[in-house]
Amino acid sequence: MTEKKLEGTALLYKLIGEARTYDDAIIMGRGDPDFDTPEHIVEAAKDAMVNNHSEYTPPEGILPLREAIADRVKRINNIDVDPETEVVVTNGGQEALFLMIVAAMSPGDEIIIPEPNYNTYKDAVDFVGGKKVDIQTFPENAFRADPEDVRKAVTDKTRAMLLVSPNNPSANVISPEDMNAMLAIAQEHDLIIIADDIYDLFVYDDFEHVSPASLPGGKERTLTLNALSKAYSMTGWRLGWIVGPADLMARVKDLKAAISGGTSIISQYAGIAALTGPQEPVEMMAEAYRQRRRMVIDALDEMGMKYGVPQGGQFVFADIGFTGLGSAEVAQRMLTEQHVLAYPGAAFSKDRKDYLRMTFLQPEDKLKEGLERMKLAMESIMADTQ
Ligand SMILES: Cc1ncc(COP(=O)(O)O)c(C=O)c1O
Repeated sequence: MTEKKLEGTALLYKLIGEARTYDDAIIMGRGDPDFDTPEHIVEAAKDAMVNNHSEYTPPEGILPLREAIADRVKRINNIDVDPETEVVVTNGGQEALFLMIVAAMSPGDEIIIPEPNYNTYKDAVDFVGGKKVDIQTFPENAFRADPEDVRKAVTDKTRAMLLVSPNNPSANVISPEDMNAMLAIAQEHDLIIIADDIYDLFVYDDFEHVSPASLPGGKERTLTLNALSKAYSMTGWRLGWIVGPADLMARVKDLKAAISGGTSIISQYAGIAALTGPQEPVEMMAEAYRQRRRMVIDALDEMGMKYGVPQGGQFVFADIGFTGLGSAEVAQRMLTEQHVLAYPGAAFSKDRKDYLRMTFLQPEDKLKEGLERMKLAMESIMADTQ
């Protein structure tokens, strides 16, 4: 494979590797928040260590954390779960998504996935020998997945649908009407819903996040993932969870026991502090993202980029097809000429080679500088294509 043809994560790793060779690089696509983990959470982890909490935990996690999770999903998502049988603590959202797919699917099963989407779902589906059936979404309507397209994609092999809201990378939030329509399709065809709520605390303007498991008839067919990674700036702590109906959760729990056993007890104690302690740090971060989102949108407008207005999450997915170059080349030129790295769509999907993903996860001054550099790179690219 020549360097020019690199795609997927190989392309991303190559660009990140190059960015690291520049002292002044600004990585605009990165996925971890720039804030420190709130102090009271760090203190709880220290206490757990000092109190010699070095033991294994049950695969599903310690009960006080499962209770805190049950309370959180009731309070924020309006999902009722029994902490004894319907909650499993995981090593971040990543393990949760793998467990959900493996629990829900068998070889030959199909899962309907609105695209673009978080790309490691594909890896998990491939792993079980399942088939991913794509529904394409576009910036013109903020990457809305039309329930009618989902309905048309159902076959007798369809086992599940994936609903990530707010979405990564498209930043689309599924409206309450569409969520009801998706659930109706799932009920009609007896499908499992894989719901990913990891960005549920970051919703902008008048958009509203709805968990499918909160709707009448939703819980019994929905596995819902969440994690502390994004909301509490804890990506490296590796703490997430799945909630769902007891029958499916029994399978999730068996898989969790087989794959990794209990999640780190230190992180679990930190998780209790995160969920039961003061929530002001989360509100402060959400407010910062709100302001940064505005900065990014304004800059993209100046650059003449088409994008789906981010309704939630921490991303903007912008169409750079008008340059006549692929996203790998545009990202490469931005990096080499201006030392700024936006993630190329080609790294996410073969169908998104005309897109760039930017995140809001940089302090304002760095974000401003990064956007100015992107603008200069775009001017240089456009001058060459004229
Ligand atoms: C939509 C989505 N789901 C799951 C994950 C994985 O979460 P974690 O970082 O907690 O493993 C991510 C991470 O970026 C994500 O964007």
